[in-house]
Amino acid sequence: MTDRPKKLHVKTYGCQMNVYDSERMAEAMGPQGYVTTDRPEEADLILLNTCHIREKAAEKVYSELGRLKTLKADNPDLRIGVAGCVAQAEGAEIMARQPAVDLVVGPQAYHRLPDLVARARAGEQALDTDMPEEDKFEHLPQARTPAARPTAFLTVQEGCDKFCAFCVVPYTRGAEVSRPAKRLLSEARALVDRGVKEITLLGQNVNAYHGDGPEGGTWSLADLIWALDGIDGLERIRFTTSHPNDFTDDLIAAHGTCAKLMPYLHLPVQAGSDRILKAMNRKHTAAQYIELINRLRAARPDLLLSGDFIVGFPGETDADFEDTLRLVEQVGYGQAYSFKYSARPGTPAAEKQGVSDAVASERLQRLQALLTRQQQAAQQAMVGRETSVLFEKAGRLPGQLVGKSEYLQAVHVEAPDSLRGQVAHVRVTEAKANSLAAVLI
Ligand code: 5AD
Ligand code: SF4
Repeated sequence: MTDRPKKLHVKTYGCQMNVYDSERMAEAMGPQGYVTTDRPEEADLILLNTCHIREKAAEKVYSELGRLKTLKADNPDLRIGVAGCVAQAEGAEIMARQPAVDLVVGPQAYHRLPDLVARARAGEQALDTDMPEEDKFEHLPQARTPAARPTAFLTVQEGCDKFCAFCVVPYTRGAEVSRPAKRLLSEARALVDRGVKEITLLGQNVNAYHGDGPEGGTWSLADLIWALDGIDGLERIRFTTSHPNDFTDDLIAAHGTCAKLMPYLHLPVQAGSDRILKAMNRKHTAAQYIELINRLRAARPDLLLSGDFIVGFPGETDADFEDTLRLVEQVGYGQAYSFKYSARPGTPAAEKQGVSDAVASERLQRLQALLTRQQQAAQQAMVGRETSVLFEKAGRLPGQLVGKSEYLQAVHVEAPDSLRGQVAHVRVTEAKANSLAAVLI
């Protein structure tokens, strides 16, 4: 072994939880002498932190592996690992399909990564897709986001017990588990000490959070938010992703009373037809979702909503799809993600016949056109309004900074570099397709 620090390159796919996990994996490898690099060609260890949510996401991993394996010719010390949800779902099959892969580690086993890497280096089988009882985060170094970034993710809850008929998450991420509040608060304080101003609480079902309270009892997500609200120097709190059925009264109320809680909420509904919602095993109706939105907006009238939609779920008729369009019209989203249904192996819906690709594509186009119109209207509605911006980095033009509004919109402002990492008040002057322009007040 040489004294040269070894280099680790992590490539992240999929959701924000993977972003958080990738940072934790890099930190777990630090004590093993690894420093991170953005350049795969100079790495001694490459980890792909993968997403299995749709077929396309999973296939990307194999094409990337095909490219990366050629780097082994130049660097015989290079080891390639697959982490994340594809690792969990496919396990040893990955190594069979792409022999250049040296290690496979599922999302609940990251604390064993150093040992797996050592095994891979010794030429031993290095596969761990266990879902151990212990909390991986208890065995991983505490988050150390560099102060260069004023925003941070904090995973508070993982896994899902909802079993929506289309979704792999309950299988890849396992059962719902909440982290103890005490540990989360100390992690949050450490982030704030490093200059973090905004924390986004993450969980596949984040509002189902029910962690051990610091002094016994169980805390809800609202309890956790209120405790974070008390941390001096923390200015903004967000959380994602929520399930409509877990929205408790205390959390709805917090949207109206907790000043640090930002008025942006990602609340997927997936479809607007009760028949399809039932087939999806969502356990709520379209009317119940709308009713919840009304209550949230009563608490916080300027709440900007974002959602996820799936078109072409097995059995979706034209009339069902029209129901989705109607729901979108009724809600009025500021931001949304929409997908063609993708049959995932092992999920209940995969057994059923989906709608034709041509029909799904046509529906997706219509839905996206409507959602884009709504997003643009929401952007336009910001013109002339005041909002706060947390500046994250330099803009494209000299003298410009870019940050996020309270509503998570990108905002370009002419501002001194000293404001980077700070929250400032601005007036919006112009709405562009994907960002706003504003001036400091
Ligand atoms: N096909 C298409 N989209 C899916 N999603 C989850 N599973 C599937 C699937 N099988 C979407 C849902 C979810 C988002 C993260 O991805 O809309 O909210
Ligand atoms: Fe992908 Fe979902 Fe796993 Fe995140 S949780 S990595 S989105 S499959």
